[in-house]
Amino acid sequence: MRIDIITLFPDMFGPVLDGSMLGIARERGHLETHLHDLRGWALPGVHRQVDDSPYGGGPGMVLRPEPVFAAVREVQTMAEPRGTVVLLTPQGERFDQAHAESFAEIERLVLVCGRYEGFDERIRTLADIQVSVGDYVLSGGELGAMIVIDAVSRLLPGVLGGETSAQEESFSLGLLEYPQYTRPPVFEGMSVPDVLVSGDHARIARWRRSQSVERTSRLRPDMLESARLTNEERALVARDATEAGMPQDEETR
Ligand code: ADE
Repeated sequence: MRIDIITLFPDMFGPVLDGSMLGIARERGHLETHLHDLRGWALPGVHRQVDDSPYGGGPGMVLRPEPVFAAVREVQTMAEPRGTVVLLTPQGERFDQAHAESFAEIERLVLVCGRYEGFDERIRTLADIQVSVGDYVLSGGELGAMIVIDAVSRLLPGVLGGETSAQEESFSLGLLEYPQYTRPPVFEGMSVPDVLVSGDHARIARWRRSQSVERTSRLRPDMLESARLTNEERALVARDATEAGMPQDEETR
C-alpha cells in the first residue's frame, strides 16, 4: 500500500513512521509512505503564505484553498493509481475499525492534514472521505493521520507476525478484546485463570469468546448492537443486563 501525506509539519511523522510496527512494515515493503510539505505549494512571494484571515472576521487563520488544491493535484500525478483522498477533520465520520479495514483494501491513500483554526470550506470538495479520530479538536490533522496510518497498516497482509492475528482480534468482530496473561502464573497474589494453562484449546477459545462478550456487554454495551453474536450469546447478554437492572433496547429484549 502507498500512503501520501500532505502536511505543513512533515517532521512530526518521523518517529511514528520509523517506529516498530510501521518501520518494519516499510522496510519489508508492505507499506510505502511519502511526506509532502504543503509549504512547497505556498503562494508565490517571500512569505510562502498558505493561510489567511477568515472572511467575515473571527480569530485565527484559515488554510487557503490554492496550496491544498495544487498539492493534491500534483501528488496524484506522482504515482498510479489515483489515491483515495482522506481529509482529517473533526467534522468527518468517526474513524473506527470498519474504516481501518476498508482503507486497508485500498492500494493508495492521500491523507490531507488541516491546520490553523480550520481550512477554507472549498477544500472539502477535494476529499473522497472526511474522517475524525474523535470528538475533540486537535491543533491539526497530523496526529489523526498517524492514528489512521497505524490502524490501517497493521491490517495489511504480512505486517503482523501471525497472518491472521489482526483479523482474529475481537474488535474486528465488534467486541472488546478478551483478557490476556503471560508469565508469571501468580503475581502479587493474582493468578492466571486455570483454563488458560489447561492445554484444552477448545475450552480456551470458548472462555475467551465469553469473556469478550461479557466485557463488551459491561463496558461498551453500545457495541453489541452491531456485534456478530450467536442467539445463545444474545440471550446471555440480555439475562445479565436484566440482572444488573439495566434498561434494554428492543433488540436485546
Ligand atoms: N483535526 C483537528 N481535530 C481533528 C480530529 N478530531 N480528527 C481528525 N482531524 C482533526
